[in-house]
Amino acid sequence: MMKKLVGFAILVGFGVAFFLPATGSVSGEDEKIEFIGATKCKMCHNLAKTGKFFDDWMNNKHAKAFDLLKGDEQKDPKCQKCHTTGFGEPGGFQKFDDEASMKMVNVQCEMCHGPGGLHSKSKKDNVIPHAWEPVKETCEKCHNPESPTWKEDRYTDENGNKAGFIFEIAVKEVNHAKVKEALKK
Ligand code: HEC
Ligand code: HEC
Ligand code: HEC
Ligand code: HEC
Repeated sequence: MMKKLVGFAILVGFGVAFFLPATGSVSGEDEKIEFIGATKCKMCHNLAKTGKFFDDWMNNKHAKAFDLLKGDEQKDPKCQKCHTTGFGEPGGFQKFDDEASMKMVNVQCEMCHGPGGLHSKSKKDNVIPHAWEPVKETCEKCHNPESPTWKEDRYTDENGNKAGFIFEIAVKEVNHAKVKEALKK
């Protein structure tokens, strides 16, 4: 699928290809694309036919990550950084109590798939590529020792080695496997 999207970008010209990330990280040129929030993704990505990705995300811990912050912690940029979406970026979370920002709390779709300002203009047969398949580095922007609740032994791999984060194991909890399974039927 990614290959198809890259091919498409080249077809429509450099204007769009320019925005294509080389890796799954939110950085560089992508900063120019606005974050739009999960409710906007819901319009197109919660249909029975193409998969209930929004519902699936709502049932994931990431959708409640802001609730973990208590009292003044919710106002603390040091905590907001990893418990909101698009922190300090265009369209993303800016500050507590700001109406637009409060729609960008929790770890929403765009923290894994990239800001959707351009992609959201997609048509069924004309998908504007923005979205990519998240890689290890996408997750490690938050899943790293800077997290005050980081535990070096949170994960155990098949050989018994422990680590604070193991992408291959963790990704199974967030890759919408159930949605994709349902689509096959
Ligand atoms: C106007 C409709 C529309 C909106 C809004 C929209 N998308 Fe999409 N998206 C599409 C279409 C069409 C496709 C291609 C067909 C499919 O996979 O359903 C697609 C594909 C994708 C893919 C799969 C790409 C791949 O490589 O297979 C991801 C991931 C994605 N969208 C994420 C998002 C996210 C995150 C948002 C919100 C920020 C969003 N989309 C908003 C229409 C939309
Ligand atoms: C570098 C990113 C990052 C920052 C900064 C951050 N968190 Fe988190 N937080 C995470 C991640 C990732 C998790 C999931 C568990 C883990 O790996 O630490 C988490 C989990 C939590 C949990 C759930 C406890 C658990 O063990 O699952 C609480 C409570 C929490 N964070 C509070 C805070 C507070 C309070 C702050 C600010 C002082 C903060 N976090 C700052 C990334 C971060
Ligand atoms: C914590 C990270 C994370 C979040 C948050 C997240 N996703 Fe995903 N998403 C993934 C992963 C991982 C995959 C699987 C990519 C692969 O197949 O390699 C995926 C795949 C997808 C696909 C493509 C499925 C396919 O193979 O055709 C779509 C569409 C999608 N996500 C939409 C969304 C939408 C919409 C939201 C928010 C409502 C969302 N995702 C939230 C991690 C996430
Ligand atoms: C914007 C920051 C952020 C990003 C990016 C992010 N996460 Fe998380 N993640 C969190 C926070 C915060 C929590 C705590 C939620 C809770 O425990 O309720 C969490 C919890 C989790 C959990 C459950 C607790 C644990 O640590 O086992 C898993 C699994 C997880 N994330 C996997 C991923 C994967 C895989 C990716 C990348 C595809 C990813 N996350 C990307 C912030 C993030």
